[in-house]
Amino acid sequence: MEERTLNYPVRPLGTRTRRELTVAVMGAGSRGFEYTAYGKLFPGTLRVVAVADINAARRDRMGEMWKLPADRRFGDFHELLAAGRLADILLISLPDDLHFEPAMEAMRQGYDILLEKPMAQTADECRALLRRQHETGVMVAVGHVLRYAPYFRALKAALDDGLIGELVSIQHQEPVQFAHMAHSFVRGNWHDAQATTPMIVAKCCHDLDILKWLVGRPCVRVHAEGGLAHFTAAHAPAGAPARCTDGCPHEATCPYSAIDIYARRRWHLYVFDVPRDAPEETILEKLRTTDYGRCVYRCANDQPDHLVATFLFEGGVTASFTMDAFTPWGGRRTRVMGTRGYIEGDGTTFAVYDFRKGTKASWTFDPSASNYKDNGHAGGDLALVRDFLEAVDTRDFTKLSSSLDASVDSHLMGFACEACRLRGRQDG
Ligand SMILES: NC(=O)c1ccc[n+]([C@@H]2O[C@H](COP(=O)([O-])OP(=O)(O)OC[C@H]3O[C@@H](n4cnc5c(N)ncnc54)[C@H](O)[C@@H]3O)[C@@H](O)[C@H]2O)c1
Repeated sequence: MEERTLNYPVRPLGTRTRRELTVAVMGAGSRGFEYTAYGKLFPGTLRVVAVADINAARRDRMGEMWKLPADRRFGDFHELLAAGRLADILLISLPDDLHFEPAMEAMRQGYDILLEKPMAQTADECRALLRRQHETGVMVAVGHVLRYAPYFRALKAALDDGLIGELVSIQHQEPVQFAHMAHSFVRGNWHDAQATTPMIVAKCCHDLDILKWLVGRPCVRVHAEGGLAHFTAAHAPAGAPARCTDGCPHEATCPYSAIDIYARRRWHLYVFDVPRDAPEETILEKLRTTDYGRCVYRCANDQPDHLVATFLFEGGVTASFTMDAFTPWGGRRTRVMGTRGYIEGDGTTFAVYDFRKGTKASWTFDPSASNYKDNGHAGGDLALVRDFLEAVDTRDFTKLSSSLDASVDSHLMGFACEACRLRGRQDG
């Protein structure tokens, strides 16, 4: 088979805005720092002018980084809202259950908003956000960062350019990775679907959004199955104590050992606000005192660890999706079937096969060949900030791929999947 390279250029980061845009940040956690890093990487584009976080250390870390005066460092997000509009843009990077309320009020105040996904916790709240956005005319970008990742941009361009003819069906997988599952959805912030959002929204709204975006048509039917197969008390090995640090006899062999994940491999340490080279004893103390040290079989978790969904789009295009906790790596895997060809991709590289020509054309994202370096979500995090700043600067909504309008549908698909999954479980 003849092989060649597919050339879809990557747009650089750091494009100039007419002026430096100011940002107020609600939630100086992982996402709050990830997005605002753009202003440090590309000075003159964005500047943080206020922050709200109930965690004083995080609040002050961001406050120091941007030299904020004391009266621009707030605790609870309500305090920042009460101060009125302080910036061009509000970044809402609070926990899932604190997105809807501040977004509704901030739109009323006239902020343009970068709103982390999930935009809200129910379908009705999503619709209310959209109504408020239409009434106020402000710009709202949802944190659907994959739309901005050069890999997905190129994949979408290949489909739009008709390289595989008419799109017929898609197979898409989100491999979560075994330790990421344990960290976020068993022990961590998203372990409780009611308090946050169900897995298919909390984690997979990115994927449903990508499917909807690639197909480019409304979704008319969904079906979903899945459940919590493994991380339950019934699977606790004999003699496992409440915490991995309590002398668990299985510590040396358990893939989910907190000591192994955090203290030895040094994964996900940002949740403890400690550097990767922190002394082992510092990490072990965190494991003795926070949920991250709990035995994965003894957490109050209810998120599914495997999930299968199917989608029917207007015009008959179908998509199947699986979310799988038990994989060695994360990322995405996608196969797209068209009337004249086929695409297979792994989140970094995809290959387009042309049936008649008998060719294979490959596209690869090389961060070192662009100014993306190795930033989050395959470049999507900072590319979203770039496009959002350009859209706010020019008041051109078309520069924004993940507008509220574009993002509501995939949230509704997720809520419909969860209702279907739970209904099936009750019926079964
Ligand atoms: N777009 C993506 O790919 C992506 C990836 C990860 C997380 N997220 C979403 O981003 C959001 C934030 O996630 P994160 O990982 O940054 O979480 P995080 O816990 O690191 O940060 C959240 C911050 O909010 C602060 N906070 C909590 N309650 C507050 C209150 N009442 N007032 C002020 N501050 C308060 C916390 O102290 C914390 O520092 C979540 O909704 C999450 O689902 C999106």
